[in-house]
Amino acid sequence: MNIEWDVEAASKGGYEHFMLKEIHEQPRGIKETLTKRLDENGRIKLDDIHLTKEDIENISKVYIIACGTAYHAGLVGRYAIEKLVKIPVEVDIASEFRYRDPFVDENTLVIIVSQSGETLDTLAALREAKKKGARILSITNVLGSSIARESDDVFYTWAGPEIAVASTKAYTTQLVSFYMIALDMALKTGRIDDAEYKRMIEEIKLTSGKIQHIIDQDSKIVEIAEEIKEKHNGFFIGRGLDYNTAMEGSLKMKEVSYMHTEAFAAGELKHGTIALIEDGTPVIGIASQEKLFEKSVSNMKEVKARGAFVIAIAQEGNTEVEKVADRVFYIPKVDDILASILTVIPLQLMAYHVSVMRGCDVDKPKNLAKSVTVE
Ligand code: AGP
Repeated sequence: MNIEWDVEAASKGGYEHFMLKEIHEQPRGIKETLTKRLDENGRIKLDDIHLTKEDIENISKVYIIACGTAYHAGLVGRYAIEKLVKIPVEVDIASEFRYRDPFVDENTLVIIVSQSGETLDTLAALREAKKKGARILSITNVLGSSIARESDDVFYTWAGPEIAVASTKAYTTQLVSFYMIALDMALKTGRIDDAEYKRMIEEIKLTSGKIQHIIDQDSKIVEIAEEIKEKHNGFFIGRGLDYNTAMEGSLKMKEVSYMHTEAFAAGELKHGTIALIEDGTPVIGIASQEKLFEKSVSNMKEVKARGAFVIAIAQEGNTEVEKVADRVFYIPKVDDILASILTVIPLQLMAYHVSVMRGCDVDKPKNLAKSVTVE
């Protein structure tokens, strides 16, 4: 364990809550995760992950298994691996994976994601997969945790100890870890060339500064939080990677502010959920994917027409969204595939501020534990 992180992590470092401190630590967590993993030539060092070119070429399927926020990171990881490595990926909630008798064999790579490395459902799923002959790679934030010890290979995130029950910095470092694993596998198997590999690594490096840029605009999020803090229900909607972020944003809002929110695939609203939209219902529309931008905006129009209070998250320059959204928060320009690292930041801050405004116990929300070591 990194000693300086330890000592620092035990205190709030001047922040009112650990959650806010850990949101603000994300630029540093990503830098630490990157630098620990890049050699002097800027190449990803996965020397403790023994996935050779032959190993990767023998993988017929990848399962990503996790719970909660780690599961949401896995959904983004699926996108990265399928897009860059061209291997089919399934993402499973750990408590479901165990009971559906999945098709797993020696050609299956199982990626276990767990910040604490102690979540019992996830550990049990690991054991189930191992029994069936799968190779186990885990992404975890705790050195020597149970999940780390029972894995064949471990990719440690270097987010530093995460104290708040609501996971934030672990999530973004899990995303970066998936991109690095996918890039390494893609390069080894010739599915991307050296130039694209290096370009992507540089783009990932830039996300630290872009997150800081978002955090520096926190006052805009506070204003939005003021406008929705009394609401009892809300929706997070998005398409593709934005849908995965919607799920994570919804979980953050639920677990720290107790506002009942749901995440929906934006294209799915008209198949039923739109019946729930009333005057003033907050709908957070995430529209970071350039190729899905127009459709995402038209989904916002649909809910706006039924009285929703629309808050849009979009990339800088996509001002078209201002014609339909009541409030817009712009994130810096970024590759579509990496946008998930940025779009979650305003949602973490929004959940945090609404929680504080509602007088909730931000770091220790009711009924929740930091690590769920029971079934
Ligand atoms: C996330 O904010 C929650 N605290 C919870 O969903 C958490 O992600 C889940 O329990 C998994 O924990 P783990 O990553 O330590 O396995």
